[in-house]
Order: sequence, then structure tokens, then C-alpha cells
Amino acid sequence: MAEGTEHEATSKRFVRVASRAEVPRGTIKSVYVDGEPIAVCNLDGTFYAVHDECTHECFPLSEGRLEGEVLECMLHGAQFDVRTGQVLGPPAYEAVKTYEVRLDGEDILIAADDE
Ligand code: FES
Repeated sequence: MAEGTEHEATSKRFVRVASRAEVPRGTIKSVYVDGEPIAVCNLDGTFYAVHDECTHECFPLSEGRLEGEVLECMLHGAQFDVRTGQVLGPPAYEAVKTYEVRLDGEDILIAADDE
């Protein structure tokens, strides 16, 4: 590993939010990191994390539906790509924030905002 990469890796704080078993394939789990609501999604065994508030009217995205990479808000049907946070369908038009996810054995860790 390059020195720069290692420094980058250690400068971030990762917080354990769940075990892999708690987020089965195709499901979404609501968690909190430093009081921040985050939706953890299992897309075919790969985990992604987005801010757990729809950018349309702040409804929890974790109560929505995950179809492949598409996370659909339950309230008015806005769609987001869980991998990038980009909007795929209205009525939302602002991307949702994404968080870096790391796995440590059976644990799912999320990078905390330390700004
Ligand atoms: S609150 Fe999500 S689509 Fe309206």
C-alpha cells in the first residue's frame, strides 16, 4: 500500500453500525453515526450507505424499497442510486449524501464526518 493511501485510511474515523447478518441482501437498515441518520443498503453482497433522508421532503429512505441499485422513497417515489447518491427519478432533484463503507470481518463500518 502506498504511504499516501495508508495515511488517508488512518485519518478517517470508522464507526461500527451493524453486522453483515443484520442487513441481508436487498434490504436497508436504519442506523445512526454521531446522531446522523444513515441508511445501510446491501446490494448483492456489497454494502452502501446514504443519508437517511430523502432530499425531496426528508422522509427516511430506509423505509423505502431497494430494487437492485435503485433506492425508492416510500413517500412520493423519488429514486436514488445507492452507489452514488444520484437522483434517478423525481420528485427529488438533489443527490443524497453517500458515506464510505468498510467491512471488518462480520462488521459493517461507516466513515464518520469529522469536519
Ligand atoms: S419525501 Fe421522498 S419522494 Fe417525497
